[in-house]
Amino acid sequence: MEYLPLHFDLRGKPCLLVGGGEVALRRATILLRAGADVRVVAPAIDADLSALVESSGGDCRIGSYHAGDLQQVALAIAATDDEALNRQVWQDANARQLPVNVVDRADLCSFIFPSIVDRSPVLISFSSSATSPVLSRKLREKLESLIPVSYGRLAEFVGRFRDKIKQLITAAAQRRRFWEWVMDGPVAELVLAGREAEAEQLLEQSLRDRDEKTLLGEVYLVGAGPGDPDLLTSKALRLMQNADIVLYDNLVSDGILELVRRDAKRHYVGKRRADHSIDQEDLNDMLVRLAREGKRVLRLKGGDPFIFGRGGEEIETLSENRIPFQVVPGISAANGCASYAGIPLTHRDYSQSVRFVAGQLNEGSVDLNWDELIPTNQTIVFYMGLAGLADICRQLMKHGARAETPIAVISKGTTPEQRVLTGSLDTIVELANEAGIAAPVLIIVGEVVKLHEKLRWYPDRPGFE
Ligand SMILES: C[S@@+](CC[C@H](N)C(=O)[O-])C[C@H]1O[C@@H](n2cnc3c(N)ncnc32)[C@H](O)[C@@H]1O
Repeated sequence: MEYLPLHFDLRGKPCLLVGGGEVALRRATILLRAGADVRVVAPAIDADLSALVESSGGDCRIGSYHAGDLQQVALAIAATDDEALNRQVWQDANARQLPVNVVDRADLCSFIFPSIVDRSPVLISFSSSATSPVLSRKLREKLESLIPVSYGRLAEFVGRFRDKIKQLITAAAQRRRFWEWVMDGPVAELVLAGREAEAEQLLEQSLRDRDEKTLLGEVYLVGAGPGDPDLLTSKALRLMQNADIVLYDNLVSDGILELVRRDAKRHYVGKRRADHSIDQEDLNDMLVRLAREGKRVLRLKGGDPFIFGRGGEEIETLSENRIPFQVVPGISAANGCASYAGIPLTHRDYSQSVRFVAGQLNEGSVDLNWDELIPTNQTIVFYMGLAGLADICRQLMKHGARAETPIAVISKGTTPEQRVLTGSLDTIVELANEAGIAAPVLIIVGEVVKLHEKLRWYPDRPGFE
């Protein structure tokens, strides 16, 4: 470790900034955010810099730097393009054993400025030890997207209860368990969702009724999207990292399962056609039982849980049994597959509306109100339609759709296995049979399919044209 990361309290402390340009402005901004008393000295000082510093109660002196400027300051920064001057500041500061930073000269720094993810009062600071600012920036982008902005709110919330809980729960181990329950469970989730009054109520109630409350778990009904792990929402990722047990179905890809907390138990509850590994009612009961055992249960579903996902039924049972739950939407197969196939679901010239339809076979035919589904100026998206593809095409034509109406069959959309097959209502069945298309498959019918040729951008599975 080349540098020890420390968080300095600079509130009200004088800090010297030598330099009056853009770089000095950036340094002044961060010092002022930390509440420092900034003193700038330079022969010329940019108007933005002087306005910022002076409006924050700091001081700007037009003139040359001299060693006396270092008197009684907490740290010094040289941000000029005059190498000799920068070196002079470094030498003078060293002579006084003052922390010093010369911008872009790691060899003239006794401290460096880290990259910061600011979720005040939570601060995450990190550096590449002055080796690669670009790498630090990339890392910061990742952290920014992973750590919800609301974490600052959570830190403030728990800070308010710290003393009270210390008094009420005197045994350190019990207190730690209680805090873990707060951080990992419904209290923290309520705060993160902006429902602080409810969080406070729950926390107070749990303090009164500790054993029972800390034992009640929670269910996260999370949409895992259509396959590509990059399409998960950051909230989904966070809850995936929180869970004690995950119940997942067959449409959840391996790449996504890998992102679930390593030590969480995994339980497959998938429902393939004609292979119902677990009955829906049993599954609903299982969710209730696990939550009552105090588990944080991740119910991970392909796509969006509220689109042909039976998510509504699962949370109805939870609601009836007063089990806390939350629902995280996912990118549905229609959105994911259409985007990755370059087929806009609506388009000013071709389609003014879009319908999502369940196209599964029921006793040998697809039972739908076909008159409503004629794709004139609208796009029809069939989920679960692979087995019924021939019937879907036949019914649409029988009810007035033109035989040459464009249709796309998208297999394993958004994954490296994606295949997109396009044709017309009278040709697609044969094409799909020849190509040996595999489930899961999404079917899009309408003029928008014509745009695929022009707008395709995601490569089909190698070997498939
Ligand atoms: C039971 S439904 C679940 C839909 C899911 N809740 C959603 O919002 O996407 C399953 C159907 O979704 C479609 N599907 C899901 N993922 C898909 C993918 N990656 N590629 C193509 N179709 C997909 C298929 O039509 C599949 O039969």
